[in-house]
Amino acid sequence: CGIVGYIGKRDVAPLLLEGLQRLEYRGYDSAGIAVTGPKASGLKTVKAKGRVRDLEARVPSRFKGTTGIAHTRWATHGAPSDENAHPHLSQDEKVAVVHNGIIDNASELRAKLTADGVEFLSETDTEVLTHLIARSQADTLEEKVREALRHIEGTYGIAVLHADFNDRIVVARNGSPVVLGIGEKEMFVASDVAALVSHTRQVVTLDDGEMATIKADDYRTYTTEGSRTTASPTTVEWEAESYDMGGHDTYMHKEIFEQPDAVDRVLRGRIDDRFSTVHLGGLNLDAHDARKVRRVKILGCGTSYHAGMIGAQMIEELARIPADAEPASEFRYRNAVVDPDTLYVAVSQSGETYDVLAAVQELKRKGARVLGVVNVVGSAIAREADAGVYVHAGPEVCVVSTKCFTNTTVAFALLALHLGRIRDLSAADGKRIIEGLRMLPGQIAEILKREDEIKKIAKSYADARSMLFIGRVRGYPVAREASLKLKEVSYIHAEAYPASELKHGPLALIEPALPTVAIVPDDDLLEKNRAALEEIKARSGKILAVAHQEQEKADETIVVPKNENELDPILMGIPLQLLAYHTALALGRDIDKPRNLAKSVTVE
Ligand code: G6P
Repeated sequence: CGIVGYIGKRDVAPLLLEGLQRLEYRGYDSAGIAVTGPKASGLKTVKAKGRVRDLEARVPSRFKGTTGIAHTRWATHGAPSDENAHPHLSQDEKVAVVHNGIIDNASELRAKLTADGVEFLSETDTEVLTHLIARSQADTLEEKVREALRHIEGTYGIAVLHADFNDRIVVARNGSPVVLGIGEKEMFVASDVAALVSHTRQVVTLDDGEMATIKADDYRTYTTEGSRTTASPTTVEWEAESYDMGGHDTYMHKEIFEQPDAVDRVLRGRIDDRFSTVHLGGLNLDAHDARKVRRVKILGCGTSYHAGMIGAQMIEELARIPADAEPASEFRYRNAVVDPDTLYVAVSQSGETYDVLAAVQELKRKGARVLGVVNVVGSAIAREADAGVYVHAGPEVCVVSTKCFTNTTVAFALLALHLGRIRDLSAADGKRIIEGLRMLPGQIAEILKREDEIKKIAKSYADARSMLFIGRVRGYPVAREASLKLKEVSYIHAEAYPASELKHGPLALIEPALPTVAIVPDDDLLEKNRAALEEIKARSGKILAVAHQEQEKADETIVVPKNENELDPILMGIPLQLLAYHTALALGRDIDKPRNLAKSVTVE
């Protein structure tokens, strides 16, 4: 979901619609807008099921105002519909609220309010907030909102407009991001800097439990209890242009092709040739502490979990510390043993994924040390973690992750090298890995040059009903991620399996109609992988190999450049991003916004 708001002198509706467009990647089943202004007598609202362009088509030309809030929704409570779209209005139509998050006690509050005669217009949890604010007897809007929030259990990022207090917007945050954008005699508010950066790069990020009042020429922040807080603006490092499509047809294509530059950025300034190691400024882990680490546990969701699987392997190989990755969503529900000698690493592109954040909070409550490997600077997980490594991929807009995945795996290579060099990795091996890291951007560029070839292959697979992805050890997480990418963006069913487990079940599936994509690195397992290809071929299965040399048993091989064995997984998935992309394109899918998925899942 996305929130955007503005107060100033400009015509507000076009500004809000533009902001919503930039937030659409976060959820897009319905949208709405409410505006007012110093000369307006009340609030005007328009809502529409569908995309922001559907809303735009409904906004009348005489929809004037200089203050407003808007929302793009991703349904949690109540199906996508005009009524369930935000903003939600009070019965007297004086209060409008947009909300991200989930109100846990909504049904209880709804029952109470209904008993008091309130008529609900939507099925959303948000609507209770609107009525609570409207019914408050407090004198100021701030106090009305505060009073309403006292009844709320759950998570929220909200923006509130009130016809009787139309010189301000009041916002509050608890578990769902709210960022103020500071302009010249105008102020913005949004749930994501993406909606702000074309207007201002001066931002104030609210903390949980914080509220703010924004007026055209002033803002102030305070706690939900009312005491003032100090919030000095910081400058967003991402340029507005990095949110544009830059000549590509989709963000996914743009982001795949940004990878050589993105990887260059995650390496920049971090390599220490003198000691054949790396500097990670935000790590906050001295040699003494690093030597005491007995295990590494990596937690993430979706693509970030897969990046964590590759990271765990690198840490185990280079630093010789037992390491594994687990979906954060599972970890937090299984009452895991939290061990003081384990280093916990939370991975998240957005830094907002609720399951990851909740896992971090639970770990910290139990006294664990948590590192964040995060892309969005200042995001909730980055703030909550004790220390961390930013992956510097730049903003990623396509719902499915590509460049952030790659940069995260590189960040893990840096972390593994750093830990390794404090422990038993020799300087010679350190140097070898550094040389490998430096080759990555050029090698990625080389792979991307093969787009036409991969596109042809993709077309020949586009009619498959299902695909199998296999790899072993270093190749297995690559297969997992490639299979996820294909299903997310093309909707073709795909399953990833360790090649070593084929004979324990999946071989039963092999037939000409089920193509297999095999990850076959030139490492100590090459012969074993070849044997797996042979078994598939013997059962007439079609094979696409991603390998360092042509594979005789495969129908097609995409040959990728060889790096150090430990770093090969970073490269081997890249052609398969293009495979997923071109398969989806051939099938006419909505590539940047696959059905049913959102960029970051900030609710449970
Ligand atoms: C959502 C997205 C995935 C992403 C996952 C984790 O499910 O659709 O593409 O991998 O969240 O996101 P994060 O921001 O924590 O990396």
